[in-house]
Amino acid sequence: MKFITAAFVFLVLFSAAAAYDPLDPNGNVTIKWDIMSWTTDGYVAIVTLNNFQTFRHFMSPGWTIGWTWAKKEIIWGINGAQAVEQGDCSKFKSNIPHSCKKSPAVVDLLPNAPYNQQYANCCKGGVVAGWGQDPSAAVSQFQMTVGLSGTSNKTVKLPKNFTLLGPGPGYTCGPAKLVPATKFLAPDGRRKTQALMTWNVTCTYSQFMARKNPNCCVSFSSFYNPEITPCISCACGCQNNATCVNSDSKILQLVGANNTRKDNTSLLQCTHHMCPVRVHWHVKTNYKEYWRVKIAITNFNYRMNYSTWTLVIQHPNLNNVTQVFSFNYQPLVPYASINDTGMFYGMKYFNDVLMEAGVLGNVQSEVLLQKDLNTFTFKQGWAFPRKVYFNGDECMLPPPDTYPFLPNSASKSFLSLSVLASSLFLLCMYIC
Ligand SMILES: *[C@@H]1O[C@H](CO)[C@@H](O)[C@H](O)[C@H]1NC(C)=O
Ligand SMILES: *[C@@H]1O[C@H](CO)[C@@H](O)[C@H](O)[C@H]1NC(C)=O
Ligand SMILES: *[C@@H]1O[C@H](CO)[C@@H](O)[C@H](O)[C@H]1NC(C)=O
Ligand SMILES: *[C@@H]1O[C@H](CO)[C@@H](O)[C@H](O)[C@H]1NC(C)=O
Ligand SMILES: *[C@@H]1O[C@H](CO)[C@@H](O)[C@H](O)[C@H]1NC(C)=O
Ligand SMILES: *[C@@H]1O[C@H](CO)[C@@H](O)[C@H](O)[C@H]1NC(C)=O
Ligand SMILES: *[C@@H]1O[C@H](CO)[C@@H](O)[C@H](O)[C@H]1NC(C)=O
Ligand SMILES: *[C@@H]1O[C@H](CO)[C@@H](O)[C@H](O)[C@H]1NC(C)=O
Ligand SMILES: *[C@@H]1O[C@H](CO)[C@@H](O)[C@H](O)[C@H]1NC(C)=O
Ligand SMILES: *[C@@H]1O[C@H](CO)[C@@H](O)[C@H](O)[C@H]1NC(C)=O
Repeated sequence: MKFITAAFVFLVLFSAAAAYDPLDPNGNVTIKWDIMSWTTDGYVAIVTLNNFQTFRHFMSPGWTIGWTWAKKEIIWGINGAQAVEQGDCSKFKSNIPHSCKKSPAVVDLLPNAPYNQQYANCCKGGVVAGWGQDPSAAVSQFQMTVGLSGTSNKTVKLPKNFTLLGPGPGYTCGPAKLVPATKFLAPDGRRKTQALMTWNVTCTYSQFMARKNPNCCVSFSSFYNPEITPCISCACGCQNNATCVNSDSKILQLVGANNTRKDNTSLLQCTHHMCPVRVHWHVKTNYKEYWRVKIAITNFNYRMNYSTWTLVIQHPNLNNVTQVFSFNYQPLVPYASINDTGMFYGMKYFNDVLMEAGVLGNVQSEVLLQKDLNTFTFKQGWAFPRKVYFNGDECMLPPPDTYPFLPNSASKSFLSLSVLASSLFLLCMYIC
């Protein structure tokens, strides 16, 4: 057991340090600056944020992009976004810039922004879909006029120290790198134009940097064992015990108790796991050639609606999903040879929003899987997922020796052995 724990700890540390997600090895976010024209004192650029992450999206209140100017540049104007602070523009007499900050932070506009301030792919309040969920909505753009800057590709200086919030911390951005100028295809497809100069910034996500504790936990049950395997106690940390409320508390009836707060504090229902989200996996039915699983996601945060949520699950039988009820499903094949991971997400206008706790705060689905009789078994915890991610963050699984076991099935040592084997396999995916 000690070794298993050590292996898991090692895995977690390893993936954190490298900001590398084994289930989304190519997932990153790029921020591309295309200089479209030079002006008398600077340039006009189109800035494009592309979310290439398969299952991690930018939820409301959306992204914030920051950088530090190399010299004394200012932003004359922006369409499709805005700088959150104007800063000190007192040395300008007639024409006042949009922002004079040395390190501006820019956010998207809201959908109701005046038409003349909008730009293509803007004005979604910073909400950007994951690439795997909706590639057409995985982009956000704004146009910016920059002054007091270089006015040619020889004199312009690239901004430094890019930062990205999405909306919380977790992203790390590399330096801006000059890349071959972007080519734009005219709408009729008959002519190509190109940017005068292009640079890219690549940002990657690390859950370890985003938060100290997991954000969700997993519980298990099965038709063959009446015992439920609950989430681990304090799976998401118990530091907030003092601020949680019981579901029958009178506080919840106060007007506005469940409104989103300026300080973003959550209001959790008191549970032994103290997680905002719980995923439950129930092995429901055993047929001759198929088996059926029920999946339920529960929200314990009174101040959060999870819109366009995603659930990613790794299980060896996901290569043979026959039918998924009430959720959308998409297999993810990050490694061509292994088809054991899939993404579940809600159906638009039906259950794509996981509502706040207390108000229908759960969504559920059933999955029918076809057995491969050579590998299928209810023994040794095989029927339970190997990894679970909610909204791109890994959920805390119960310890392997607590999984529901078959009555009379033997020993838990078998179970531990199989888990040991699978940890070694996972370890190998990182190192080998
Ligand atoms: C970012 O992701 C894209 C798309 O998956 C990939 O082509 C590119 O190589 C990645 N860039 C970096 C720096 O990892
Ligand atoms: C700058 O522009 C000139 C032509 O105007 C081009 O030859 C040169 O490659 C460009 N340099 C960069 C860094 O883009
Ligand atoms: C950029 O970040 C580096 C390292 O974090 C820091 O040393 C440097 O001072 C920063 N530069 C500016 C202009 O903020
Ligand atoms: C720059 O970013 C764009 C996406 O915005 C991507 O298509 C392109 O491949 C990137 N270029 C390089 C050299 O990474
Ligand atoms: C707050 O909670 C109450 C009671 O649970 C519910 O009726 C109300 O719709 C919620 N209000 C908001 C703004 O979510
Ligand atoms: C709350 O979130 C907003 C938007 O992301 C951010 O600007 C603000 O700084 C956050 N407040 C705190 C106290 O973290
Ligand atoms: C928080 O509550 C849980 C369950 O009620 C308890 O096990 C844990 O010790 C508490 N932690 C703190 C710091 O109070
Ligand atoms: C969640 O959505 C409901 C219905 O759209 C809304 O009434 C409520 O205010 C939202 N709650 C939060 C915390 O945003
Ligand atoms: C992966 O499995 C799914 C069924 O869950 C199947 O539809 C898909 O074709 C498989 N993909 C590959 C590359 O084998
Ligand atoms: C699904 O399982 C059946 C029965 O074992 C097998 O014939 C079929 O090849 C499997 N499909 C995939 C994609 O592995």
